[in-house]
Amino acid sequence: MAAINFAAVSMWLPELSSGKGNTFRSSFVLKKRPVASVSVAASSSESSPPVPEKPEIELEFIGPKPDGDRRYPVIRAKEISGEKLLRNIMLDNKIELYATYGKVMNCGGGGSCGTCIVEILDGKDLLNERTNTELRFLKKKPESWRLACQTIVGNKENAGKVVVQRLPQWKK
Ligand code: FES
Repeated sequence: MAAINFAAVSMWLPELSSGKGNTFRSSFVLKKRPVASVSVAASSSESSPPVPEKPEIELEFIGPKPDGDRRYPVIRAKEISGEKLLRNIMLDNKIELYATYGKVMNCGGGGSCGTCIVEILDGKDLLNERTNTELRFLKKKPESWRLACQTIVGNKENAGKVVVQRLPQWKK
């Protein structure tokens, strides 16, 4: 339950005065005098501690071919660190991952076809190490190449930006 806060309250209390001199008068003058401000805060023992935000990884996916303006299209996404494979992030965001053959013959993320290749242009330290499957499929490929179905984005504690080149095999 949320804490209840009362705003600071200024109060005026009446003061009795008998007026001038020591002659008793039957009528008293009411004076106002300030009293210190009172601030009260009440909180419920049922209030829950704030939930810490989970670190996030920003992703940029660079298209394999320039568009009409000769610019490479960029698609952006954001995910909680350490919760998803790169392949699933791309599919969930409808980002094209496979080339022609892979579109129809991929293994569905099982690590047995080698068609889900991407290149990590920036932020490789935010990803897991290459798996044995990747070492087998990408033995003669640049170190920056990964299999998206083997690549975990983040480790639940880190945050930052990863830049991914789609279909690096199409680059000349
Ligand atoms: S989808 Fe087959 S190896 Fe990644």
